[in-house]
Amino acid sequence: MTTEFVKITDPSTPQSISAIDKAAKIIKNGGLVVMPTETVYGLGGNGLDALAAKKIYAAKDRPADNPLILHIEVPEDAEKYCHVSPLYYDLARAFMPGPLTVIMPKKDIVPFSVTAGLETVAVRCPDHKIANALIKAAGVPIAAPSANLSGKPSPTTAEYVMEDMNGRVDMVIDGGESEIGLESTIVMIKNDTLTLLRPGAVTYDALCMVCEKVEIANSVLEMLKENEKPLSPGMKYKHYAPSTPLVLLDGEEENVLDFLTCEIKTKKCAILCYEEESDLLHGAELLPIGKKDDLSAHAHMLFTSLRDADKLGCDIIYAHLPPKTGLGLALYNRMIRAAAHTIKKV
Ligand code: TXA
Ligand code: MG
Repeated sequence: MTTEFVKITDPSTPQSISAIDKAAKIIKNGGLVVMPTETVYGLGGNGLDALAAKKIYAAKDRPADNPLILHIEVPEDAEKYCHVSPLYYDLARAFMPGPLTVIMPKKDIVPFSVTAGLETVAVRCPDHKIANALIKAAGVPIAAPSANLSGKPSPTTAEYVMEDMNGRVDMVIDGGESEIGLESTIVMIKNDTLTLLRPGAVTYDALCMVCEKVEIANSVLEMLKENEKPLSPGMKYKHYAPSTPLVLLDGEEENVLDFLTCEIKTKKCAILCYEEESDLLHGAELLPIGKKDDLSAHAHMLFTSLRDADKLGCDIIYAHLPPKTGLGLALYNRMIRAAAHTIKKV
């Protein structure tokens, strides 16, 4: 199929409105449209159409047991698709629209092909003008996984989307760089407890301000044991992985720099480095990810850097092991997967 590529800078112009209407028609007719969101780009289809969901899995080469998120226009729309509890509205007041996905028991209207056979469904209300306009115009919830081929880093620009999805979807809407750069935080509600399944820009500490009991699922920080079933199916796959091996360095900054200086002499290295280090590392391909303490910048740059590093033909990619606090937890979760849990103490 031919993929139509549309760039939208201001969603309120007449051309943009007609492009969004066209995209909405594609969704209503069972087709696929890639849309920008504040986290990463999403590969959208009608979330109430079982066949559209099947097309999404096929376009991504995604295993059929990995469920999709329903993107809704306003938090109250969740009531159409799931059994909501007061805790959901506490979360909605604090974080929606925004980078939070909530999993609750599903209603019959949601096809099992969207939830991969599960009795629960994930909903999210994005904070992005184009995504919101598209959901509204489509008049249906938009099921949208990240718009990458399964296993690859999530796309944060329309150019990366095209690398993976050109010819596989009907339309791609280019809305510029994703602001956050990491996928949404995912929580599951059970009674009065929240389980954090995937950390994102809504941090563990922020969730604790809204709910007294927040548990962190094992799969967030650990490698799953053989035969262990994760609460979130997506957590069992090797994810975000560049083809070049990625190694995370755990140690004092001075030791990391000494180690890298030696490595550069014998290997062709790509290094995801802090801006402050750019002048200290010579002879390697450097991908600066922002200032040392600027975790938002690291989040914004991570997937871009991994995709770009992979194109340099290096023997190895090195990066700092992030802290597990604040937004660092989301970075840690993505990076240990991208590195297939290869952490080197230096
Ligand atoms: O920021 C985001 O969440 C982006 C944008 C496009 O909204 N979407 C995204 O979707 O990251 P995806 O499909 O790449 O990741 C969704 C994750 C998967 O790991 C999946 O297993 C989990 O959500 N998930 C979805 N429904 C679930 C359910 N009912 N129970 C447990 N996990 C679920
Ligand atoms: Mg994904």
